[in-house]
Amino acid sequence: MTDKPPASEITPREVYFNRRAFLRGGLIAGTAAATALLYRKFNGLDFDTTTLPPIRGVVPAPHGPFRVDDEDLTPRVKVVNYNNFYEFTTDKDAVAGAAKDFKTDGWKIAVEGMCHRPRVFDLDAFRKLGAPEERIYRHRCVEAWSMVIPWVGFPIAKLLAAVDPLGSAKYVAFETLMDPTRFPNQTTNVLEWPYVEGLRLDEAMHPLAIFATGLYGQELPAQDGAPVKLVVPWKYGFKGIKSIVKITLTDREPVSTWNKRAPSEYGFYANVNPQHDHPRWSQATEQRINESGRRKTLMFNGYGEQVASLYTGMDLDAHF
Ligand code: MTE
Repeated sequence: MTDKPPASEITPREVYFNRRAFLRGGLIAGTAAATALLYRKFNGLDFDTTTLPPIRGVVPAPHGPFRVDDEDLTPRVKVVNYNNFYEFTTDKDAVAGAAKDFKTDGWKIAVEGMCHRPRVFDLDAFRKLGAPEERIYRHRCVEAWSMVIPWVGFPIAKLLAAVDPLGSAKYVAFETLMDPTRFPNQTTNVLEWPYVEGLRLDEAMHPLAIFATGLYGQELPAQDGAPVKLVVPWKYGFKGIKSIVKITLTDREPVSTWNKRAPSEYGFYANVNPQHDHPRWSQATEQRINESGRRKTLMFNGYGEQVASLYTGMDLDAHF
């Protein structure tokens, strides 16, 4: 995709970003409402969230790895209607509906552990840590499907700079809200709750790793992990923990929900690696949502030039 016009709060983001796809499909959309209607009509979906507030002052994605230029964006309606969020339901097509009344009022994010300035942030203070920047990333799920998503967020490094990790801190652990009154599936044992994840500190410091607070220029929909989701584009999607309430600096490798659940299937590192198959399926190719045919999966999801040096000397088949 060539250079894009600046973000607009009036024209639906898809019209800008997926102009190619729109032209190909011969669709012309006027207003956000018309677009939403078309989406419902064409996809048979009855849930859309195009009315979410726009994020003001979004900085366009810088060139290079921060922005996938040559692949079509996954239409927003797909991004917000095909989700993994087990706290709501294990049915990917039903998460949006189950999450539609989720509220984030009064949300707090505690940052604690091995840092000089532990702190509890309210959402306003958290969002002020970094300018809202667009990041157009490939998103590869361990289940071998993928999307290209225009997130809005800021580097995790900004938060780490604010809390100032101790020299002895080696990892960052993340935790999702535990509240069965708002996450109905937390009353079941489909996973161990709360959902937890972790990164090595140098991975978390990498400029590609962000906290997403929005997508397609609007606030993050609940089904995608409102109000704050981790996005680490060179790793499988399960590292992208949603609805974060706690972040802990530590010197021990953090527990990761899926790694604990099935250690032979889901590694702590979870780097996208087409040479390391899941025991029950190949990781060599992927189904890009909204495309026919399959794509070859790229090592580190296509971000090898930027991140391979983080793993120098490591056997990435053993540390999958
Ligand atoms: N975070 C929480 N709290 N609960 C979850 O079930 N699912 C993970 C990840 N983060 C999950 C989660 C998985 S398996 C994937 S593939 C991504 O979220 C999906 O993100 P998406 O719905 O925005 O595509």
